[in-house]
Amino acid sequence: MSSGPVLILGIESSCDETAAAVVADGRTILSNVVASQFDLHRPFGGVVPEVAARAHCECVTALIDEALTLAGVTGAQLSAISVVNRPGLVGALLVGISAGKALALAWDKPLIGIDHILGHVYAPALGGFSRYPHVSLIVSGGHTSLYRVASPMEISTLGQTCDDAAGEAFDKVAKMLNLGFPGGPALAKAAESVPDSGRQIFKDIVTSSRTHAGEADNPLDFSFSGLKTAAYYHLRGTTRGRGALRDISDDERREVAASFEEAACLIMADKAFAACRKEGINALTVSGGVACNKRLRTIMAAKAARERRPIEVHFPPASLCTDNAAMSAGLAYHYYAAGQFSGLDLDADATPKRAK
Ligand code: KG4
Ligand code: ZN
Repeated sequence: MSSGPVLILGIESSCDETAAAVVADGRTILSNVVASQFDLHRPFGGVVPEVAARAHCECVTALIDEALTLAGVTGAQLSAISVVNRPGLVGALLVGISAGKALALAWDKPLIGIDHILGHVYAPALGGFSRYPHVSLIVSGGHTSLYRVASPMEISTLGQTCDDAAGEAFDKVAKMLNLGFPGGPALAKAAESVPDSGRQIFKDIVTSSRTHAGEADNPLDFSFSGLKTAAYYHLRGTTRGRGALRDISDDERREVAASFEEAACLIMADKAFAACRKEGINALTVSGGVACNKRLRTIMAAKAARERRPIEVHFPPASLCTDNAAMSAGLAYHYYAAGQFSGLDLDADATPKRAK
């Protein structure tokens, strides 16, 4: 190892964001650039894998150039190149992996494959959070899990979703409500000014998720499909037969959005605090795109204040909650320090790997 800072170039292309970043010593973000594909996928109301892969191809090299230029770092000065190789859309992942391998070969640098979800788990460390062990709640478009994080590389799963991811449920309900794409932020915006009294439609589902949390026999597992289906039936006005969604007023649209947001946030908060109590840990981090949700932040803060044993809750800034390459470049520092590198046979893997 050279004596200067460990400089890692991170590359991310697992879904609909192409991203590149340079991080020093796993802590200091020197650059962090993201190209979103929302406009390309909007006409389809969801991410189209082939469109995503093509868009990654078009911008990945320019984005890497930009990240290096902004960081004031040359390829030769890098210590290693990290690339997200799972989980995600295989065609999309392959673009970033190919770029990472080509640069690792050309610049003669070690390559480090990173799990996207563990990158999300590391994001709070880049936001200045350094308490271990802590409980990590990851709530994104593709994943919803709870982890015990003993150190950046010692992570074990406490619970996970049995069906939809939290962000996926936000996106689907937003679609039912015709709120646009991407759904999560649009639904949050529609719900913004709704008072507590207008957030009650699905409160029974929150209660039953508390008393009836035995999905897969693990009370720390999540399920969002019942809540999503309740929203669907509410919008149809009946649970029987087939039928189109009702025409609803803008006020009712806002009330359904706010009631869904409230129930989803309460379920996430309930499980996260239950995990802290079960593990006897009083530090909680929340990351992934849904962690941008302001109501979730408010509910978590209120719950933390009510806990018998105070719990510190940390949310990274929004730019580190949604997909970015800094989180994986930061985590890669720890693999680098441990001498854990990947070969040029590193492959894309679509499926999440359960952490222990
Ligand atoms: O972490 P992320 O950028 O990508 C994945 O790894 O999936 O998360 C994207 C998800 C989407 O489902 C999006 O709708 C959701 O995060 N999201 C939100 C908000 N901002 C993004 N959901 C609720 N409220 C928000 N403010
Ligand atoms: Zn993500």
